[in-house]
Amino acid sequence: MAIQPSVLILNGPNLNLLGTREPHVYGRETLDDVEGLCQDEAARLGLDIDFRQSNHEGELVTWIQEARGEHDAIILNAGAYTHTSIAILDALAAVDLPVVEVHLSNIFRREAFRHHSYVSTIARGVICGFGSHGYGLALQAVARLIEASGRP
Ligand code: DQA
Repeated sequence: MAIQPSVLILNGPNLNLLGTREPHVYGRETLDDVEGLCQDEAARLGLDIDFRQSNHEGELVTWIQEARGEHDAIILNAGAYTHTSIAILDALAAVDLPVVEVHLSNIFRREAFRHHSYVSTIARGVICGFGSHGYGLALQAVARLIEASGRP
């Protein structure tokens, strides 16, 4: 049986607090709930996923570096590092994998400092404002990108 394409799903700082963190902004679902939703959608799409969270910029950079040769695409919610991290942007450029950026909230309806994203400058697309559903949409987008790349 053919090996399924693999997608690294990375979550940045404070996303471990989902469910209790500003639920009026981020909803009541926990990160475990989001992972469960991703597992269900990935199974439906025939993808394997590796779902992780870190509060540390360097750890996220290391995981992105290690994705080369291990995964076929990256889905990234970098949390606040979205708006600050050139290191994460450089790591994404180095691995040269398709990236889909996700945010639970609509960052463009929020404070001006959230309107700029370093990740967006390299992402193939951005999904924001649909809560946890956005992760499922990102997996659908990634499935298409992998298929279009001609991966067997
Ligand atoms: C977020 C939006 C960011 O601005 C914020 O710092 C987060 C979460 C989102 O998913 O809506 O931590 O990435």
